[in-house]
Amino acid sequence: METPHYHIVVLPGDGIGPEVTREAVHVLEAAAEAFGFRLTTETHPVGGAAIDATGDPLPKPVLQACLQADAVLLGAVGGPKWDNLDRAQRPEAGLLRLRKALEAYANLRPVQVPEALADASPLKREVVAGTDLLIVRELTGGIYFGEPRGRNGQMAWNTMRYTREEVARIARVAFEWAKRRRGRVASVDKANVLEVSQLWREVVSQVHREEFPELELEHFYVDNAAMQLVRDPRRFDVVVTGNLFGDILSDLAATLPGSLGMLPSASIGGRVGLFEPVHGSAPDIAGQGKANPLAAILSAAMLLETLGQEAAARAVRQGVDAALAEGVKTADLCRAGETPVSTEAVGQFIAAYVRQQTPVAS
Ligand code: NAD
Ligand code: IPM
Ligand code: MN
Repeated sequence: METPHYHIVVLPGDGIGPEVTREAVHVLEAAAEAFGFRLTTETHPVGGAAIDATGDPLPKPVLQACLQADAVLLGAVGGPKWDNLDRAQRPEAGLLRLRKALEAYANLRPVQVPEALADASPLKREVVAGTDLLIVRELTGGIYFGEPRGRNGQMAWNTMRYTREEVARIARVAFEWAKRRRGRVASVDKANVLEVSQLWREVVSQVHREEFPELELEHFYVDNAAMQLVRDPRRFDVVVTGNLFGDILSDLAATLPGSLGMLPSASIGGRVGLFEPVHGSAPDIAGQGKANPLAAILSAAMLLETLGQEAAARAVRQGVDAALAEGVKTADLCRAGETPVSTEAVGQFIAAYVRQQTPVAS
């Protein structure tokens, strides 16, 4: 059989983006060696780095490269240097344009609390231990993209908008994942106040009734969902919600494993998937070797899985578990008395672990 060959576009971005992405690429290279596939990477600036180089947070050639890749791995964008630019010129606008251009409407954000992290959470161990949920966030619609939007001297306005089709397709993604997991979907909205949420609830219920009647569906108002997520996270399996609520709830859910540095994501739906940590550019710790690369490394595992390299993805995840179990962790995960290691040390540990996995028979 011919050796599979994947071409990955790497967009390190800003702040800690380049630091965590470098480790994720090392781990991907180790996986390619151990599991017998070829990997080529091509690195481009995005966000603030691209503004500095070209004036545009998503230059045309960068977008072209992404559209032609097998997958895109992104670090993070943004930072104080670019905070005073107009909205459409900011680093974040480049990321939003990229998601839209890739038609990556489904953002999968898994949240797990392995035994080794149960004490890293600010919440009680008995509440968080064993948490395993998946936030399915709609990513190319809602208030992030709704028109009209704008401002004048006296006021500013945005529009939260969803079509039936946009809700139905993200609901299907959530139900399909629930089928492969524990069969339960929690849909989160604000249907007691917003028309757009009433439509959301109606359409999710219809997709459930007509296409997935064997699964369990519950509806939550977003305020209650936020409370339940920290009160009893294990009651959740798949959580499906719109763009804005999903953004907020996923950072909230980072308290469960104890750090935003633990949450990976896959943004899928179009031909090319975008794999990106949930966290941002963390300007407060950038350039110090302190950033936790696990969110980026676990995003790389999601990339491998999406490309069909399941065994390699599993090895990467096992490498992450091994690092945590052996206490190879950055400061964000350390309790009093534990000694943190650098971003690079975590990456090297996992790359070495992956290299030791059963090589493919030659
Ligand atoms: P942030 O996610 O960058 O940081 C929030 C807090 O979490 C900080 O204290 C940070 O140090 C910590 N943190 C985040 N990732 C970490 C990691 N890997 N290891 C250890 N600690 C980590 O959010 P913010 O400070 O609100 O935003 C900073 C910038 O990032 C802004 O410009 C924002 O727009 C941008 N941002 C980008 C993305 C993205 O590119 N996907 C996501 C969120 C925020
Ligand atoms: C995220 C980020 C982005 C979002 C920003 C940087 C545009 O917060 O990926 O969660 O809001 O989607
Ligand atoms: Mn966010």
